[in-house]
Amino acid sequence: MPSQLLSPITLRDLTVRNRIWVPPMCQYSATGRDGVVTPWHLMHYGSFARGGAGAVIVEATAVVPEGRISPTDLGLWDDAQRDALRPVVELVHEQGAVAGIQLAHAGRKASTGAEWGTGRPGQSLPESEGGWTTLAPSAVPYEGLADPVALDEAGIDRVVDAFVAAAERAVEAGFDLLEIHGAHGYLLHEFLSPLSNRRTDSYGGDLAGRAKLMLRVVDAVRARIPEGMPLLARLSGTEWTDGGFDLEETTQVVTWLGEHGVDMVDVSSGGNVPATIPVGPGYQAPLAAHLSAHTDVPISAVGMIDEPFQAEHVLVTGQAEVVRVGRAFLRDPAWALHAVIALHGDAEIIPPQYRRAYRQQLRQG
Ligand SMILES: Cc1cc2nc3c(=O)[nH]c(=O)nc-3n(C[C@H](O)[C@H](O)[C@H](O)COP(=O)(O)O)c2cc1C
Repeated sequence: MPSQLLSPITLRDLTVRNRIWVPPMCQYSATGRDGVVTPWHLMHYGSFARGGAGAVIVEATAVVPEGRISPTDLGLWDDAQRDALRPVVELVHEQGAVAGIQLAHAGRKASTGAEWGTGRPGQSLPESEGGWTTLAPSAVPYEGLADPVALDEAGIDRVVDAFVAAAERAVEAGFDLLEIHGAHGYLLHEFLSPLSNRRTDSYGGDLAGRAKLMLRVVDAVRARIPEGMPLLARLSGTEWTDGGFDLEETTQVVTWLGEHGVDMVDVSSGGNVPATIPVGPGYQAPLAAHLSAHTDVPISAVGMIDEPFQAEHVLVTGQAEVVRVGRAFLRDPAWALHAVIALHGDAEIIPPQYRRAYRQQLRQG
């Protein structure tokens, strides 16, 4: 049997060369604090494409300035940001991969110090250090962070419009697929979760109310991007907390997302409230397996899927259609080339400039 991990997948008009995808990973490296990519991003994203990934998904990119996690996040609320992203897309394409981008609004978890570089890692930044007032479904803070202001209806409309404008810019920059960030306790997840959404209007209450903003964003973006372009969403499949947004609710939301034109959902977990997470190899794959079994929407799995055979297993056992490999790609940007060798794939994927470096391994294979 040929490797499933190394086999192509088609979503709408887009065919991706394999099922090894690099998930979005914030680099906090827009050092001009203007949301614009820097040489770091070119090297970072280009290296994964060179290293054989099927799709490379650019990190959480804020649709409005106040939607950044930190001042050094990427943004896509102006044309200069769009133009600076074009070379990233070109590099990824030149290396045979497809380029995606995750569009995001950090909600009540915005305006924090990045893990490095901006000081105060994971803490709210005061205005004197470049911070700003955060927005959320309700005036309920994330534990330890500053109090957010609850969005009113006009504010919600602005969020939807900002996602659409950023999506249009992403299309103009040449991206092949878009992902709406609905996970990890950021704005759209905050709306989904009863722990952070205490609204009494049509955007709160039962699951249909809590999912209304996510579906509005999906509808609005879907309507303005090319018909043949895949639209993805990322969700936290559980908050690992009693009374939180759980797998049962996620299953319903994934079904709705599919009905609204989402082509694949990536299932992550947590991030909206502090929780004890049973981290370990493939720890989120059971969430993907549940969603694959209970919805018609293609699912991708992520989370400590670090080895080629482990990734192959997730696909062969029907848990997901695609595997995302994050930190293992940071450690080894040629991760997918090693997977090709381990799974006896087509060595043509190795860039000709580097083939001499693989002669020994190919003979052994
Ligand atoms: C440095 C870093 C930055 C991340 N930034 C994002 C992000 O921008 N958007 C997102 O949805 N997840 C983000 N994540 C989560 C990853 O996409 C991924 O889900 C997580 O690392 C688990 O996969 P892994 O075990 O293969 O690394 C980030 C993770 C890391 C390590």
